[in-house]
Amino acid sequence: MGEGVKSRLPAVTAMAHPNLALVKYWGQRDAARQLPLNASISVNLSGATTTTTVQFDAALEQDELELNGAPPSPAALARVSAHLQRIRDLAGSTACARVRSRNSFPAGIGIASSAAGFAALTLAGTRAAGLTLEARELSALARLGSGSACRSIPDGFAEWLVGSGEDSYAVQLAKPEHWNLQIVTVYFDPKPKAISSLEGHRAAPSSPFFEARLQQLGETLNTVRRAVLERDFGTLGMAVEREALSLHLIAMSSRVAEQPQLSGIYYWQPQTLALIHAVQRWRTEGLEVYFTLDAGPAVHLLVEAANRAALLEAVGGALGELGGQVLVSAPGMGARVVAGG
Ligand code: PMV
Repeated sequence: MGEGVKSRLPAVTAMAHPNLALVKYWGQRDAARQLPLNASISVNLSGATTTTTVQFDAALEQDELELNGAPPSPAALARVSAHLQRIRDLAGSTACARVRSRNSFPAGIGIASSAAGFAALTLAGTRAAGLTLEARELSALARLGSGSACRSIPDGFAEWLVGSGEDSYAVQLAKPEHWNLQIVTVYFDPKPKAISSLEGHRAAPSSPFFEARLQQLGETLNTVRRAVLERDFGTLGMAVEREALSLHLIAMSSRVAEQPQLSGIYYWQPQTLALIHAVQRWRTEGLEVYFTLDAGPAVHLLVEAANRAALLEAVGGALGELGGQVLVSAPGMGARVVAGG
């Protein structure tokens, strides 16, 4: 920020969406630098947002964080502060920051709050520090906060290139308006999940099936990339569904070093499995819908726009028995500044 700058810089507010992985990131080549073992493909979820305001103020003695109107856990504050430090290092600054962040959706249910959170923090933080980074630099920086956050920087559909450092970032595969897919997220239990995705990544290589997954991924990436570009819904849906099951098979057959009493990681709840069965039934009955799951019990249902009403009706019927809530998204925008900056 240089000399002669006022002790309090203007506040900047940015907004970002969580992204839904169509091809999942699961397993890290380098945990400290958040480098993945495989490339991944995602779409931003327009129905959920994180809005974050950052202001650097030399009068502060430490970074301050407010999350959804409440003080954060010490772990959350440390993670945000480490990311602010990366921004300070880039800007050549020592000023601490005041950060206020709000999610429009619950955390820990299988919707990536950390992805939207670190994408918004990266954009608001760099602008608030007086930096204007290129999209790929923002994406690589967001990745250091939380791996999948790099995919919430570009608009629409994104692919995260594996890379080996600064070249590990997400690029846009297609704009949001390329394909008006509808994503109906059904979530059941707003309690944070027991095993974090961080632990899941760490445990993944212990699965005896992990190598087989990595070998399969090149073909899956080609299929999903092409299906997105050609708007081939049937091909996309089946590839995405099988890919989600592959991640969960790895999780279920992983060993968590710190928790030897666990035979594997189960992100599913009984309602998750009930919905998986329902999707297969709806498809045989003629409603073309596919599911995917991230590291949590939420089920994300994909349909073409013409089938949105039919799916919502079917889901409404199922939720009568299962409980749960619904969030509807289309492909969303990337991270953007909404105030200040
Ligand atoms: O970015 P992380 O470390 O929270 O990992 C995300 C893991 C999955 O959501 C399960 C898959 C993905 O690619 O987003």
